[in-house]
Amino acid sequence: MSFKNTKAIILAAGCGKRMKSELPKVLHKIFDVELLKYVYNAVNNLVDISYIIVGHQASVVEDYCKANLNNIKCLLQFPQKGTGDAVKKAYNELKDFEGNVIVLYGDAPLIQESTLKEFVEYHNQNQSIVTVMTAKVDNPKGYGRIIRDDNNSLIKIVEEKDTNEQEKIINEVNGGVYCLDWQKIKYAFNEIDCNNAQNEYYLTDIITWALKNSLKVSGYKIEDETQILGVNSKKDLANVSKILKDKVIDNLLSEGVTIYDKNTTWISPFTQIEPDTIILPNVYINGKNKIGRNCKIGPFSHIRGNVELEDNVKIGNFVELKNAKVKSNTNICHLSYIGDSEIGKDVNIGAGTITANYNSITKEKNKTIIKNKASIGSNSVLVAPVCIGENAMIGANTTVTKDVEQNNLYITRTKEKVIKDYVKVKKENMEGIK
Ligand code: UD1
Ligand code: CA
Repeated sequence: MSFKNTKAIILAAGCGKRMKSELPKVLHKIFDVELLKYVYNAVNNLVDISYIIVGHQASVVEDYCKANLNNIKCLLQFPQKGTGDAVKKAYNELKDFEGNVIVLYGDAPLIQESTLKEFVEYHNQNQSIVTVMTAKVDNPKGYGRIIRDDNNSLIKIVEEKDTNEQEKIINEVNGGVYCLDWQKIKYAFNEIDCNNAQNEYYLTDIITWALKNSLKVSGYKIEDETQILGVNSKKDLANVSKILKDKVIDNLLSEGVTIYDKNTTWISPFTQIEPDTIILPNVYINGKNKIGRNCKIGPFSHIRGNVELEDNVKIGNFVELKNAKVKSNTNICHLSYIGDSEIGKDVNIGAGTITANYNSITKEKNKTIIKNKASIGSNSVLVAPVCIGENAMIGANTTVTKDVEQNNLYITRTKEKVIKDYVKVKKENMEGIK
């Protein structure tokens, strides 16, 4: 659902100094997805277009946006003089625009589309000119503090570095999401100044500007404070990642998936799992995947994305799966790598089986197909492209380089050799030398 006449501005120009990284902050990832993409995903369905403000390493961020996001336009902010200055870069694009602009920061990835929707509806019902999303947090350090008057009305936002002792202890903070009635507020961006501890043009100063100009301002407090958390450091990135994966696990538990250890289990938000599947400790599931009912995964399994498991599949310890479809009742129980593969029903994959999918000369990935009821002996290498027929059997320690017809046994093991009393004779000879 998209609101009529609503556009977004996502700020992504800051240099992210506190990350101590060569990578622009908004391109850091959680479950292999960029922070900026989470923000974009949350707002994209609600708006006609998102303007993304780029600046620090602008070409890197812009190239990323053009290759990965639709419905966007990047605008350059150089030099980066603060969040208020960043929004001003959309001024020309929005000159005649009559409607709402949702402003978000590209470093706060946990915001949800449903929350943004309620936020904009609140702004509209209230007929506000500026609405700011706020939340109460345990540790407000680093955030702008929300200052309210005796009537509980929002009167200003004070940045951490500008706070006095009384303001420091306020734990309602600026969530960094704004809804603006553009035509009424746009002049603010020419009038706010940079007389503050950081010598920056603060977006937060539009609150006092609006009130001075008798325009209605509202604070919209959300209950789930985790949705506004921003990433400014690697420590924040670790915390926010953990919060995201904990939410995913809580959600799966409530839908009937069995997960024993919330601490060591990581499951991406793009993974679907049916009830009664069991996830054992130390499992890492990344990317987009679909996992059926009554499967058993782990302990210590790694699913890397684009994996589909039908019902009753067993994935055991130290098994890695990537880009694989596995049909029902198949077991891949120990120490295997299965990539770029299609595996049928009732297949047994022995310990240590590897699909050799990558040709390092052509740099191509090739496919392995294993048909129903096939049995792959332990320690086998299946050199793709290769197809193992229905009910076929691969002997242990085989390197398969040719397709195997149904019902056949395929084995490349060298013939066994027994040298009688070899060790005994060797030892006796050595003693003779002494
Ligand atoms: C900002 C808010 C703070 C709020 C917090 C929420 C301001 C002045 N402060 O602080 O009140 O509680 O976010 O997370 O707005 N950016 C630009 N251009 C610039 C500066 C920043 O595009 O010139 C972008 C950054 O890339 C980042 C976002 O704006 O995505 C926020 O900037 P950041 O420096 O992280 O602000 P905070 O100190 O976190
Ligand atoms: Ca931030």
